[in-house]
Amino acid sequence: MLDHIDKVFAATPSARSDVEIYQMWEIFKAVNARVKAGGKVISLLAGEPTLPPPQAAIAAAQAALSSGKPLGYTEALGIPALRDGIAQLYRRRHGLDIPTSRVAVTVGTSAGLMLAFLAAFSAGDTVAVVEPSYPAYRGTLKAIDLIPYRLTTDASTGYRVTAEMIAALPAHVKGVVVASPANPTGTMLSGAELRAIYATCRQRGLWLIVDELYHGVTYDQPAETVLAAGDDAIVINGFSKYWGMTGWRLGWLVLPERLVSRIEALHGSLQISAPTLSQIAGVAALEADAELVPRVAAYKRNRDALLAMLPRCGITRFAPPDGAFYLYIDIGDFTDDSVAFCKRMLEETGVVAAPGVDFNTADGQRYIRFSFCMDAAIIDAAIERLEPWFRSLNLRTAAG
Ligand SMILES: Cc1ncc(COP(=O)(O)O)c(C=O)c1O
Repeated sequence: MLDHIDKVFAATPSARSDVEIYQMWEIFKAVNARVKAGGKVISLLAGEPTLPPPQAAIAAAQAALSSGKPLGYTEALGIPALRDGIAQLYRRRHGLDIPTSRVAVTVGTSAGLMLAFLAAFSAGDTVAVVEPSYPAYRGTLKAIDLIPYRLTTDASTGYRVTAEMIAALPAHVKGVVVASPANPTGTMLSGAELRAIYATCRQRGLWLIVDELYHGVTYDQPAETVLAAGDDAIVINGFSKYWGMTGWRLGWLVLPERLVSRIEALHGSLQISAPTLSQIAGVAALEADAELVPRVAAYKRNRDALLAMLPRCGITRFAPPDGAFYLYIDIGDFTDDSVAFCKRMLEETGVVAAPGVDFNTADGQRYIRFSFCMDAAIIDAAIERLEPWFRSLNLRTAAG
């Protein structure tokens, strides 16, 4: 009997569950402590639009709830109206004919990522991840026994990954994860760059996974999709950012034909289907450009206000974002510990940003990320506090 109990208590967590904990949680703790102590916080931390989902999405969800229908599971690949609507989106935005059969609706982009990795790679495969990037790429790969290979980019090339960099990857790499526009840099790849990357991946027999979640949130020109280059890339996307529907957990994949039945089976086993209410709301949200386009204009205004502030603060090393709603800045003149820097900034100004270390394991300690998807008044209040603070830091640094 005791023997049995010992064995139970001796059980240990799996190696694959040993994923890195985001340092951002440390900052959240500091934010909560400040709020609890009665302090104010101006948060440029999270990449969550603060406006509600489009009116039409809310109305559709309300109607579905009042209908008394059970809102049970849907087909594993999603309700036909949503899959069709997503296929239509590619026609509208990019003039592309994507067959509905290649669209799979997922539980947010996050689940889409995991399904794509599961369908494309076998345990133990190595997958290149462009850095700096969204930290969950690494965590998701690790959680399913895949090995991330860091493909580091820097400010000198505007954090762009090139076809040449992919061509030079070691032979054992099986795939590449790219985002455009990217989190945390806002860097967007041109159609020509995407085509070159696509061609290199095809030549080398690499899976190419492109995270297009920030499509729609672009400033000077619209985003190009890798699907224009051919049918063989895996695209992940979702309703969290342009549509501002983070908590609805709704995303999609556009797949090469040969992966569709694999994803259908995996989805059926792992999640059954994406949330039905969210799928119904998603169909309506796809028609809400009139409400959403002005939001992007507001993000642009926020971006420009922050970009104008940085040189006034003596900060010159940053790449102006083409899309997404983040600004990734080099604060290496002030610190080599971005977590400590964010805590100090919070303490001394009440403004909170994300530490770069989550996005770039190589030199993220010299970066922070501002998110600017909030109300303009919040951005202006942040600038009012940050500008004199950064200037005083410059003086202190200059004084040695
Ligand atoms: C680049 C990128 N991909 C994926 C995600 C996950 O988004 P979702 O809410 O669709 O799961 C995020 C979230 O911030 C992100 O920034």
